[in-house]
Order: sequence, then structure tokens, then C-alpha cells
Amino acid sequence: MTDVSPLFTPFRLGQLDLPNRFVMPAMQRGMCENGRPKPELAAYYARRAEGGVPLIIGESSAVDHPSATAQPNSSWLTAATADAWARCVDAVRNAGGQMLLQLWHEGAVRNDGHALSPSGRVHPGKANGRAMTLEEMKAIGEGFVRSARIARAIGAAGVEVHCAHGYLLDQFLWHGANERDDGYGGPDIADRVRFPAEIVSAIRRECGPDFLISLRFSQWKEVDYGARVAADPAELEGMVTILREAGVDVLHCSTRRFWEAEWADDGKNLAGWVKALSGLPTITVGSVGLDTDVMTTFIEGTDPASRIPEAIAELEARLEAGEFDLVAVGRALIGDPDFVTKLASGDPGAIKTFRRSDLGTLEWDTSVIEEVHRATA
Ligand SMILES: Cc1cc2nc3c(=O)[nH]c(=O)nc-3n(C[C@H](O)[C@H](O)[C@H](O)COP(=O)(O)O)c2cc1C
Repeated sequence: MTDVSPLFTPFRLGQLDLPNRFVMPAMQRGMCENGRPKPELAAYYARRAEGGVPLIIGESSAVDHPSATAQPNSSWLTAATADAWARCVDAVRNAGGQMLLQLWHEGAVRNDGHALSPSGRVHPGKANGRAMTLEEMKAIGEGFVRSARIARAIGAAGVEVHCAHGYLLDQFLWHGANERDDGYGGPDIADRVRFPAEIVSAIRRECGPDFLISLRFSQWKEVDYGARVAADPAELEGMVTILREAGVDVLHCSTRRFWEAEWADDGKNLAGWVKALSGLPTITVGSVGLDTDVMTTFIEGTDPASRIPEAIAELEARLEAGEFDLVAVGRALIGDPDFVTKLASGDPGAIKTFRRSDLGTLEWDTSVIEEVHRATA
């Protein structure tokens, strides 16, 4: 790490003065019961804030619509869970941090017969679920807004709209899953981004100008690592411009490895392209401090090795080149809550490397994802 690392310079995000550039991304941790975070989830978040992470994004929470998830251990963000989420927000604030709550609908990534997707598909060649009607879209959009209103009421700094990894809103973005011909799908990215953008505008209208709205998206899908929402920079520019105009404050660009160039003839990663094309702050993510990506952890069940000095040097160079503003650290922060303070004190060698066993009792149904990987192998 350089003497004055750019990773430890302050950054103003909306109304938040963040003392450094680290963020903890949303990660389901299996610590919810009946959709309610247990006290141990609040303690887990607070511990990362104590460890120097100024911005914590809560695990994906099903929005206030009955179709939002079929996963039994998932969190929900509804009137029935508001007090349990308030406990998390308060615990993080008391530890000196701030929270965004992640709003999620899993769409067709489920096996229970109630899967909804833009045009009845989750992956080319695989029928899964049925196409959503405009009435269902309206009701689900209202569910996102109700959950955002709850986040604001309990003191969260904002929300993150989950538009990544192949779940419902990403199924709208992705041409492989969205063949609608009613202005919400088809070959034009402007049509495919319309539903997510309408949800963002509705949250902005409801929650006011000071409420942070992050939108997380990815080119890759859990069911298809090579998928692309935006085929080229021009499509990406069209998409992020519409999202910015809808009221997004920060774009969280999910990649499996932050050091990979998004397009071959330029070294910028996805966050770098998005920042250049949108003018908005961006968050980068993907295997910070580790040598294998998150899907290797899930599907192969292997343990990564530490990769800290190379990662920090590369993050610093890219941050100084203006590619992104914030860096999300996932598994490495599960492995060691003091990841950031140990870096700050110049002792990266003391960081405990993430092990898959650190995931503890998390029971996450990856059967739909694994089925598609088998079918397309
Ligand atoms: C246990 C676990 C649960 C996750 N749950 C979510 C989630 O709820 N929402 C989400 O957007 N990403 C989720 N992710 C992805 C992470 O936010 C992050 O993008 C990914 O782990 C890559 O970062 P890393 O390589 O630093 O771990 C999860 C990852 C892990 C390891």
C-alpha cells in the first residue's frame, strides 16, 4: 500500500461523508427467521462497521409482494420485519457506519411453480415460469416502493435496487430473458431498462432527493457467466443514462473479478466504463483480496487463496485513474471483519483469509442455477 493510499481518502456520496472507500456488498448470511433478521445479523453488520467499513449494504431483502422469493431463509423488507431491520440499521449507526438496504425480487430463479419473468424465460433454451402481465409489473413495482419507504422510515441512508445476477430486474435488462414486445423488452436496451428505471423514479418520488439510491447490475448471470446486458459501450451508455435520469445516485457494477477489462481494446473494468459513460459515482467489486470468484466458492465449494498486495496495488492504480469511487469487499470481510483496519494500519499479513466454512449455516438453494449449468455444459 502507498503511504497515502487513495483507498483511505474520504468520499462524499449524496449526503454521506465516507471516511474511506470501502463498502460491504449485500450478502445473504442465513441469519433470518420468518423474513426477519435475527439479532446476530445486526451484530454481524455492526462488527464490520467497527472494523472500519463506513457503508454496509444489507443482504438481499424480498420486496413487499408475495411473489418476491420462495427461499425460506430469505430476508423480507415489509411492515412485519421493519423493527428487525431497524435493529440492524441502528447497530451499524452506533458503530459509526451507515446502511443501504437491498431490494430484491428473484423472478424466475426458483422451482416452485410461481416463477415470474419478463417473457417466461430465465435463460435461452430454458422455459422457466411465465411471462408477467402489466398488472403484475405494476403491483411488484409498488412493492419495491413500499419496501423503500420502510427503509427510509427506519433510518437507512438509502436502498440498493438489485438489478443483477439474473434475478427479476436483470431478466428485464437481459435480451436472453426478455422478449416482450410491449415497450418493456426486445432488442432495444432503452425498452429493457424501462421497468427498472420506472421503479427507481417511483422510489425517488416517494423517498425524496436526499435518500440514496444505488442500483446494482451485472453483465454476468448466475446461470450464464458469459452473458451481456450491454453488448458494447454505446448500449451501456444508453442504459446508464436512462438510469441516471430516473434518479440513481450510484451504480454498483458487479463483476466476478474487478481486475478484468470489460472490452478488449481498453483496460477499464465495468465500473470504469460506467463511471465514464454516466458521470455517476461507481462501486467496483469482485474477488478483492482473493484469487477465485464467488461462484467458484458456491458451485465448486473450494477455498480461495489470499491475493492482497496485488489487489490493493491494482485498486489504488485504478482508483487514481478515476475508474471508480468505492470498492466493495465481500467474502474477505466475512473472513475477517477487521480487513479494513488491518490494511489501514499497514498489517495486511494479519488478515485472516476467507474460508468457505466461514459461511456457517447458510442454506442457499442453488439448484436452479446448477441445473442450467449442467444443461449448458
Ligand atoms: C454468501 C454470499 C451471499 C451473497 N448474497 C448476495 C445478495 O444477497 N445480493 C447480492 O447482490 N449479491 C450477493 N452476493 C454477491 C456479493 O455481494 C459479491 O458481489 C460477491 O461475493 C463478489 O465479491 P467478493 O468476491 O469480494 O466476495 C453474495 C455473496 C456471498 C459470498
